[in-house]
Amino acid sequence: MTSYPMTRLRRTRATAWSRAMHREVLVTPADLIWPLFVTEGQGVEDPILSLPGVSRWSVDGIVARAKEAVALGIPCLALFPNTQPDRRSEDGKEALNPDNLMCRAIRAIKDACGGDIGVLTDVALDPYTSHGQDGLIDEAGYVLNDQTVEMLVGQSLNQAAAGADIIAPSDMMDGRIGAIREALEGASHTNVQIMSYAAKYASAFYGPFRDAVGSSGLLKGNKKTYQMDPGNAEEALREVEMDLAEGADSVMVKPGLPYLDIACRVKETFGVPVFAYQVSGEYAMIEAAVAVGAADRDAMVLETLVAFKRAGCSGVLTYHAAHAARLMGS
Ligand code: PBG
Repeated sequence: MTSYPMTRLRRTRATAWSRAMHREVLVTPADLIWPLFVTEGQGVEDPILSLPGVSRWSVDGIVARAKEAVALGIPCLALFPNTQPDRRSEDGKEALNPDNLMCRAIRAIKDACGGDIGVLTDVALDPYTSHGQDGLIDEAGYVLNDQTVEMLVGQSLNQAAAGADIIAPSDMMDGRIGAIREALEGASHTNVQIMSYAAKYASAFYGPFRDAVGSSGLLKGNKKTYQMDPGNAEEALREVEMDLAEGADSVMVKPGLPYLDIACRVKETFGVPVFAYQVSGEYAMIEAAVAVGAADRDAMVLETLVAFKRAGCSGVLTYHAAHAARLMGS
């Protein structure tokens, strides 16, 4: 006598309507944060060779991208400046200039789009320093924590004054979230959020980003004395715990796919909004696979994004944001 399985998990997978009905997580344009690189000039689109399909835009182009994002249902942009070389210095003080590229871009987006889109701004000194490190360095090149935090506080207030909605410190200094939160409260920026790059690893996946902001040629050495060791998971939970205690509204795990376990553990441990940054090297990997005919871009992009949602993320920073939003809408 043949025995049949009573439970057949394939039953619910047999038709498209049934698969749709049983799908546990969905990714929508509202889950996306679109990172954009700003450059000087007017009418400039400057393609980034190591990030095929991604360009630096002058402020007018950034505004056009912001309008595009609104139309696509993308709720938030993440801005990064490519600071002119003559505005970079040992101490990165251009970060404090109320008329720097970043502040001009923030104001232009807010003028054009008002409350239709959020602007998340990166806080760290690497786009402004002549040495490409995220903070102030001593003679030996060691990145100084407390002195850097003072600069980051000034940078955050500068961005908030220009209209930033979410301050996103990516520097990995200790104690910066508390210091920035206190300063924001003191300056009546009560509703300006902080999304902390809480668990940011010293990763080999950031190469194209450093090209994009123009710091790769400047950077000597690495960032291992402040960014996390890829072998550590318990430490990521401590980082997140600290940043939450200091007032972070949401936390980020970065890079994305290679660190999905961290995103998942952070969500399970703290139950707070967790975001993942699918970083430049991850984007470049997908595009490289597509370029040699080894992958279907659309399917791969959507699959990676749903993976972040399944792991517990509230959203994803991705250079594929506009493309993905278009796919979701079609
Ligand atoms: C630096 C910063 C980096 C990224 C975002 N902010 C690079 C680094 O730490 O060197 C990487 C993003 C990406 O690779 O897409 N503050």
